[in-house]
Amino acid sequence: ANERTLSIIKPDAVAKNVIGKIYQRFEDAGLKVVAARMMHLSEREASQFYAVHKERPFFKDLVSFMISGPVMVQALEGEGAIAKNRDLMGATDPKKAEPGTIRADFADSIDANAVHGSDAPETAAAEIAFFFPGLDVHGR
Ligand code: CMP
Repeated sequence: ANERTLSIIKPDAVAKNVIGKIYQRFEDAGLKVVAARMMHLSEREASQFYAVHKERPFFKDLVSFMISGPVMVQALEGEGAIAKNRDLMGATDPKKAEPGTIRADFADSIDANAVHGSDAPETAAAEIAFFFPGLDVHGR
């Protein structure tokens, strides 16, 4: 089905100046950028966004990493966008990511892993609403 997913290009990839290269991969896979904003997250925003992980041992490091520099946030739209974006990203740990995936090519560690992508339709809707409250994600 035609879907939307939330993607974040994390501080490590923004610092490496590869926003364009990552956008190219989205576009080549048939995903369309339908909303985008560059922002430097506050600790509060990063903690809220990753609230599902707040009991995990890596939560504190995750939040400090996500606020270490600007991020590029986008909503992507296309056929099976959620799964397609996850295929493009590769495994969370870049050491386990398939060659040719974004994380294999641009990520350094499980924390500095270049990109985030929604994992299911419910989280995609919630994450898009978090960053783009004006986008009509319900009327489709
Ligand atoms: P992301 O898809 O943004 O969702 C949560 C992030 O936590 C994940 O990518 C990783 O960058 C980070 N993280 C750090 N350690 C772990 C871990 N052991 N398991 C899952 N995610 C982790």
